[in-house]
Amino acid sequence: MAVVAIVGVQWGDEGKGKIVDLLTPQVQWVIRCQGGANAGHTIVVGDEKYVFHQIPSGVLHPGIRCIIGAGVVIDPESLVAELQQLKARGIDLRGRLFISPKAHVTLPYHRLLDAGREARRGGRKIGTTGRGIGPTYTDKAARSGVRMQDVLSPSQFRERLEANLPENNFLLRDFFHQAPVDPETVCEAYAGYADTLRDFVQDTDVMVREAIRKGEHLLLEGAQGSLLDLDHGTYPYVTSSNTNSSGLCSGAGIAPTRLTHVIGVVKAYATRVGMGPFPTELQNSNGKILQERGQEFGATTGRVRRCGWFDAVSARSSLWHNGVTSLALTKLDVLDTLPSLSLCTAYRYRGEVLKDMPSDLTVLQEAEPIYEELPGWQAPTAGLTAYKDFPDAAKRYIDRLTAIMESEVSIISTGHGREHAVVHNPIF
Ligand code: GDP
Ligand code: IMO
Ligand code: MG
Repeated sequence: MAVVAIVGVQWGDEGKGKIVDLLTPQVQWVIRCQGGANAGHTIVVGDEKYVFHQIPSGVLHPGIRCIIGAGVVIDPESLVAELQQLKARGIDLRGRLFISPKAHVTLPYHRLLDAGREARRGGRKIGTTGRGIGPTYTDKAARSGVRMQDVLSPSQFRERLEANLPENNFLLRDFFHQAPVDPETVCEAYAGYADTLRDFVQDTDVMVREAIRKGEHLLLEGAQGSLLDLDHGTYPYVTSSNTNSSGLCSGAGIAPTRLTHVIGVVKAYATRVGMGPFPTELQNSNGKILQERGQEFGATTGRVRRCGWFDAVSARSSLWHNGVTSLALTKLDVLDTLPSLSLCTAYRYRGEVLKDMPSDLTVLQEAEPIYEELPGWQAPTAGLTAYKDFPDAAKRYIDRLTAIMESEVSIISTGHGREHAVVHNPIF
């Protein structure tokens, strides 16, 4: 039995979807554990590109069973659309996608409140994906959330909605000066989603327990990245769930003692979409090269991702919080043309050298990266499938990065495609 968590160790978009798809043939189950429609996980198979927001990235392999766990916040409208788009492409998930009845759902007022709060933050806005993630998790914590099992029962759904609407409509109308939400419209729409999703909602706790008892292999698919973790990320510029491996366990309903591996997916440089501190951000031609060669546009919102050099200070703190057992290094090929590369090994703050990630945001905002320079390889690595074929300078970059991170690499990804990867140290 292997229970393998796949987590992003930066600010998301490290290539988690691709790594999950790559490893899926070796497991029986793939579970999405937290986050919601804010995620955008890209998988490229031949000429076909798929972007998953809520559906686990294992579904492209026939016969693999997938779960959307209790820790995910489900936007039924967008999930139904995702299912329909997949069906139109010949992939029917009936009988192999299961949704936890305990998962909370995003309602129309959550999206409106997300937008309203962002607008009021002005210059301090978070730059959320606008998917209602914060308000949905807020209601869950406040014990006024609505769960998938409520959606399946029209009378229960109406009761919960009507209990919540006075407060939320008061906020929308009187504080944000927006149109209130009409209960009839919502009840009708959600009854339609319930019809589509009913067969998918099953007791996933029992499925997971039986799978583990039988010794089957499971992948826990993380969304976002550790630096966006609600507790340990760059608060308040974070998402509203625990993106670390412990959050994955809790979202999937699997005890931490069951985890056998934690794979930290790490991009060979750094990106961030949305606001918040980013010490190694490059606002120069190198940043532009990373953005263009890496095609760094948000998979959910299409926003341009901010780009910078690899930051080992923040990534090391993520490795610790996740208990990473090996790394999956992605997008090394994006660095192929650069004559020299920089790795941030520490920060300088008012004359002091910081080797650990500061929790004080004002320190992080002022911190300057201390770099180690390495030669580039200026040769193509895109599409390589054997480690021996990497140029020496690329091997040195990998060696140095892993030495600073005090971790080993299990997978090196060399392109978008499923086949573009070097399995350096097999996990299974
Ligand atoms: P996720 O959210 O962590 O799953 O990552 P995204 O899908 O948002 O962003 C990663 C992007 O990089 C996607 O467009 C992937 O197709 C692409 N990608 C993944 N691995 C590699 C790689 O090794 N090289 C290149 N060039 N692109 C990659
Ligand atoms: P994947 O799974 C990158 C960022 C948003 C914003 C902050 C809060 O594809 O890696 P939210 O909508 O969650 O309240 O936004 O988090 N963010 C992501 N950035 N990748 C993601 O997911 C993200 N999900 C949220 O840009 O800064
Ligand atoms: Mg993404």
